Amino acid sequence: MNNKHNTFGFSTRAIHHGYDPKDHHGALVPPIYLSATFAFPTAEYGAACFAGAADGHFYTRISNPTLALLESRMATLENGEAAVAFSSGMGAIAATFWTLLRPGDEVIVSQTLYGCTFALLHHGIGEFGVKVRHVDLTDLAALQAALGPATRMIYCESPANPNLQMVDISAVAALAHQRPNVTVVVDNTYCTPYLQRPLDLGADVVVHSATKYLSGHGDITAGIAVSSQALAQRIRLQGLKDLTGAVMSPQDAALLMRGLKTLALRMDRHCSNAQAVAEALQAHPAVAWVTYPGLRSFPQYELAMRQMKLPGGMIAFELKGGIETGRRFMNALNLFTRAVSLGDAESLAQHPASMTHSTYTPEERAHHGISEGLVRLSVGLEDVADLLADVQQALAKSTRTRQRQSALTAHAGR
Ligand SMILES: Cc1ncc(COP(=O)(O)O)c(C=O)c1O
Repeated sequence: MNNKHNTFGFSTRAIHHGYDPKDHHGALVPPIYLSATFAFPTAEYGAACFAGAADGHFYTRISNPTLALLESRMATLENGEAAVAFSSGMGAIAATFWTLLRPGDEVIVSQTLYGCTFALLHHGIGEFGVKVRHVDLTDLAALQAALGPATRMIYCESPANPNLQMVDISAVAALAHQRPNVTVVVDNTYCTPYLQRPLDLGADVVVHSATKYLSGHGDITAGIAVSSQALAQRIRLQGLKDLTGAVMSPQDAALLMRGLKTLALRMDRHCSNAQAVAEALQAHPAVAWVTYPGLRSFPQYELAMRQMKLPGGMIAFELKGGIETGRRFMNALNLFTRAVSLGDAESLAQHPASMTHSTYTPEERAHHGISEGLVRLSVGLEDVADLLADVQQALAKSTRTRQRQSALTAHAGR
């Protein structure tokens, strides 16, 4: 693999790393190797590939030249030694869990997590003898107390989906690494390596839903795990090869590499658009609360400024009147699309309690800090004036209806 671009800046590496057109008939864009299998020049060479003594490609579930190029780009962008590509973010997370955890082990996880990760922990590995312990990772004394001889992993999202609670990754990793054999895994989906690099902060593995900002155009599902060479090799040869088989297709790897080329530009725009939308929400009398790492009112503002390059493109908020008004707001949106997922060019709005986080029971949501009225916005790349106009008209419409309904209720009560 040609790594002559290793010392360049983020965007230069996102565009060029690991590829030289001279080696590919001058093709500016890397070719897509569709082949599922690869010819062995001799039977001995084939045997050596399987034994791990030769590192040629032999079967696409395990490795493929197009996937290898993407993996080397993701590794350099996250400042890791190696990466493994998966068919979805859940594929990456599941393969990491199944590789690194065994019955009898304990995993400490932060309070709030994406709904399917929560379900995988509680209804997947939790049912196979791994103890799952939620700990408020903003409380280092609580983490210290929870770490025990069986702890093998600390897992968190920062900022968390959907309430944006953050974890001080350096502090958590420093505490975890006072003990042997504790791996710190961070889901970096909300940030991407452009905004935050958990490995530089002491984490051991970074996982991504590359379905989101990394690919950026909403046209693939994909996942990535980045770590040291040794850990990546274990995740590939146990988690991916033997346990999940959740391999990314070479076509999707090509789309993902296309997305990476504009990642920095897109993230800058997502962040500036989100800042403007968050400020508009905060200034509106119909809004009960708004959470966005770029607002001074954000409870972990100082940590956000220290840990992230920019505050991201995701907003959580609740309207006065709770989810009823929230639903009216969502239904009144014209430019924002009512849809789950995030990180697309299109701005999206969804209701986690009934959608992405319906894997939690209502009691679990209350316990894990996901309010029933929370509306989540993924702010896209449209013109900010159009986004602000859409939010303002939807706020006006939803609150007018609320006022009318309150008046009718008051009238009926007379
Ligand atoms: C923070 C986070 N992690 C992981 C996932 C799972 O990724 P995928 O949908 O690509 O499997 C998601 C999906 O929404 C997510 O938001």
